[in-house]
Amino acid sequence: MASTEDKAASKENTSSWKDSFYNPRTGEVLGRTASSWALILLFYLVFYCFLAGMFALTMWVLLLTLDDYVPRYRDRVPFPGLAIRPNSLDIMFNKSDPLKYAPYVQHLESFLQRYNDTEQEKNEACIPGQYYDQDDDSEMSKKACRFKRGSLSLCSGLSDTNFGYHDGKPCVLLKMNRIIGLKPLGDPYINCTVKKDNPVQMHYFPSEGRFDKMYFPYYGKKAHENYVQPLVAVKLLLTKEDYNKELSVECRVEGSNLRNDDERDKFLGRVTFRIKVVE
Ligand SMILES: *[C@@H]1O[C@H](CO)[C@@H](O)[C@H](O)[C@H]1NC(C)=O
Ligand SMILES: *[C@@H]1O[C@H](CO)[C@@H](O)[C@H](O)[C@H]1NC(C)=O
Ligand SMILES: *[C@@H]1O[C@H](CO)[C@@H](O)[C@H](O)[C@H]1NC(C)=O
Repeated sequence: MASTEDKAASKENTSSWKDSFYNPRTGEVLGRTASSWALILLFYLVFYCFLAGMFALTMWVLLLTLDDYVPRYRDRVPFPGLAIRPNSLDIMFNKSDPLKYAPYVQHLESFLQRYNDTEQEKNEACIPGQYYDQDDDSEMSKKACRFKRGSLSLCSGLSDTNFGYHDGKPCVLLKMNRIIGLKPLGDPYINCTVKKDNPVQMHYFPSEGRFDKMYFPYYGKKAHENYVQPLVAVKLLLTKEDYNKELSVECRVEGSNLRNDDERDKFLGRVTFRIKVVE
């Protein structure tokens, strides 16, 4: 007796549970009629369209206030990092094996394409030793100062197309990262040292490894389209006794207010790389 009652009850339960999905009598789905569902869907559709519209509108207004030519928020001008070319902190090659140093030579050659005389003739011949300020210019696009690869002399790849790699006296190029608005005080130059007892002779190009003031300030990618960073080349005059050893070379920007001794950032105004020449 009890069992049949249970069965009846459970049957009723399942039917009401099914009804809560779809009730054939009232035509309700999950307790709502089709038109009620349609209204809810419509409400959410309008609501989300409104949200998307608000988002698009605020973005649009914000972008209108931005200027492609001038960065908007800049509290202070940061100091630049120092980088080398070839782009490797571990330069290692056999000076008697062209296949070993070819990648470095090719890298330098392609990096210097932008500094070709024909390319640089299009840029301004600026006055050395003076910042090339163009703040007052109404022109949006700024002129760039000429930097010809010829000024890198023995490291230009013009007279010596192997950049000294074939005779074990390799060239390394140094450049500071572009920082918009940076005007270094003083006369920044590169000073490289090799950590070992007897010093390694080096040649710097342009003379004394200087970064001329005329290449500053930089006005940004869009405004200063033809800008090329000034370079300093250092030619390591290694001798027989330096070969087959891993040398650690540290280069720093000195002679200016640019920082080169940050404990946390070892590329700020300086760079350390290893070089090993085998014969
Ligand atoms: C460097 O290359 C030369 C010529 O290919 C070869 O004779 C010499 O053994 C190489 N030196 C080393 C240390 O691999
Ligand atoms: C740059 O000059 C080198 C040697 O003079 C030449 O081979 C190369 O094609 C030039 N590149 C451009 C982009 O003018
Ligand atoms: C280069 O740095 C070394 C080591 O810090 C220093 O002894 C030397 O005087 C510096 N040379 C120049 C020209 O500043």
